Amino acid sequence: MTENRRVIKAVIPAAGLGTRFLPATKAMPKEMLPVVDQPAIQYVVAEASKAGLTDVLMITGRSKRALEDHFDRVPSMEATLEAKGDTEKLRRVQEATDLGEIHYIRQRDPKGLGHAVLCAKQHVGNEAFAVLLGDDLIDERDELLSIMIDVQEKTGGSVIAVMEVEPEQISAYGCADVSAVDGEGYVKVNGLVEKPAVEDAPSNLAVIGRYVLHPRVFEILEETQPGRGGEIQLTDALETLAAADGPGSGVHAVVFRGRRYDTGDKLSYLQAIISLACEREDLGPDLLPWLKDFVAGR
Ligand code: UTP
Repeated sequence: MTENRRVIKAVIPAAGLGTRFLPATKAMPKEMLPVVDQPAIQYVVAEASKAGLTDVLMITGRSKRALEDHFDRVPSMEATLEAKGDTEKLRRVQEATDLGEIHYIRQRDPKGLGHAVLCAKQHVGNEAFAVLLGDDLIDERDELLSIMIDVQEKTGGSVIAVMEVEPEQISAYGCADVSAVDGEGYVKVNGLVEKPAVEDAPSNLAVIGRYVLHPRVFEILEETQPGRGGEIQLTDALETLAAADGPGSGVHAVVFRGRRYDTGDKLSYLQAIISLACEREDLGPDLLPWLKDFVAGR
């Protein structure tokens, strides 16, 4: 059920420098890198739309034009495909523009994810909102965002998503210290730490790129000083909210056990393409046997 939801706005930060993908990201945002045949960002906008989030604000950076163009119509291309009777390609081209109204705002200086979220303050106003990282893909067959929205409506604070990772991988992520909530499928967040050393990590629960936040986070972000890497970290603001009292305080977490791909990381990006392509009816039947032969020949 999404009809009567309070949360209707989605913020998609896509203004990072994407240095792990240089030089591919020199003139193009990493969120535009294709995953099979559509850019990563389109999967993310489609996920927001599926969860009933009808108002999308994208935080863009220097290379904003490619993102805006992708979600805009190209009437001449549509006319050419229509004249050729290529209805399948026409449908695929129109998919990106049919995802609804997208607003854009520029983060002039990429000072970190927390700063990117703060850029959405005026657009969001005083209501709970979702944040979906533009380089983090959740498989469309696995439900996450709508569960998080339900938990936010129930708890009234903010909600993050976490995933179990191998203990030695935790220093690549924000890490959550949590405790169980009686009779509930979600957990309470006691503390958060951004990219801890393996020996300092309070758990193996990694924070992934989906959030449903109370607007009080903006007040906290305004006061948050640059943290790890000299960036204003969303994790630091959430750590403050987790320990705060009063309206809008408190952070809970949904433990996600589905399929997730981080397209901002080279290895995970390649895994995303191979996994999704193997499952596609038009590619899987040819790709999978080839892949098996290729691996057997190594
Ligand atoms: P990352 O932590 O992956 O940072 O951002 P990055 O700078 O883009 O990538 P690398 O590490 O240099 O390769 C997570 C998400 O937050 C956005 C990114 O676009 C990505 O979707 N982001 C990050 C911003 O919008 N602004 C920022 O200042 C930083």
